[in-house]
Amino acid sequence: MKKIILFADTGIDDSIALTYALKNPEVDLIGVVSGYGNIDREKAYRNVEYLLELAGRTDIPVIAGATRPLSGEEPAFFPEIHGIEGLGPINPPIPEERYANRTNFSKLFNLIKNNRNEVTIVNVGRCTSLAIAHYLSPEVMEDVKETYVMGGAFMEPGNATEVAEANFYGDPIAANFVCQNVINLTIIPLDVTRDALLTPGVVNLIDTRSDSSLEEIIKPILDFYYEYYQQEEPGIPGTPQHDLAALMAALDIDGLYEYKKREVKVEYQGKIADGKSIADFRPGSSNCFGPNCTRIALKINQDVFVSNVLEILTNHR
Ligand code: RIB
Ligand code: CA
Repeated sequence: MKKIILFADTGIDDSIALTYALKNPEVDLIGVVSGYGNIDREKAYRNVEYLLELAGRTDIPVIAGATRPLSGEEPAFFPEIHGIEGLGPINPPIPEERYANRTNFSKLFNLIKNNRNEVTIVNVGRCTSLAIAHYLSPEVMEDVKETYVMGGAFMEPGNATEVAEANFYGDPIAANFVCQNVINLTIIPLDVTRDALLTPGVVNLIDTRSDSSLEEIIKPILDFYYEYYQQEEPGIPGTPQHDLAALMAALDIDGLYEYKKREVKVEYQGKIADGKSIADFRPGSSNCFGPNCTRIALKINQDVFVSNVLEILTNHR
């Protein structure tokens, strides 16, 4: 069983990743850090509270992440993709006092200190909160076993801009810091998450087998997400589960990904290419070694992905 702390900007695909984590017996979810990104920090925090309540797991600590990128700029949010509240058509009935004005970052360090060398971090939002954790307490963060990040686009176009993926684009300074400084790092970029698709047929199957209030939200939020993708990329057979794909990488599922190892940089000083992830894949380039070397997923087996998701999201745990 893996001890996981999920860093998210809890919109739709983050919520599916969280739901999967709660339902997978291989995952011991010991905390969630929820910051700005798809929506603002307060809504992201509230959405986690809501999902944990539906799952009957309010024992899992929620930590308030960052409210804006390291540049200090106002973040842009994405209601057209994730809905105004971040959960498509759902407006979570959580009272404001449970999510407003939280400052409890020290809880994160206590979780890591109490589980030395056992914690896997999976970051599926902007990299801001993760970078801040490393800035605030590099000693404690040394005790993290491994880190997985959903972000970047290497051999593929971006989704936020022509060249940049949304998590790296949303805070390129933090993304570059994380890629250059966090050891035992694996990146799950758009190159694979674009193909981590759940079709309406699979979503309907999950829905017919759902038997809890947590499972019942899967179809309405993914139907909302599907509508957006149909407008954006007409004919796409399903919705890309970017964040779920990153979480699943941490579980070492047989045959799910193929990786290469490269040093990774993220453009943060440019004008037209901010957030672009850069690694050397020129002919003749090879896997790197050493602390600055990052594992990058470049191929996904879609059959393995779908069958594992079906197995976990339809179990009656
Ligand atoms: O580019 C996809 C990523 O951006 C996902 O993490 C999604 O939730 C958004 O944050
Ligand atoms: Ca996300």
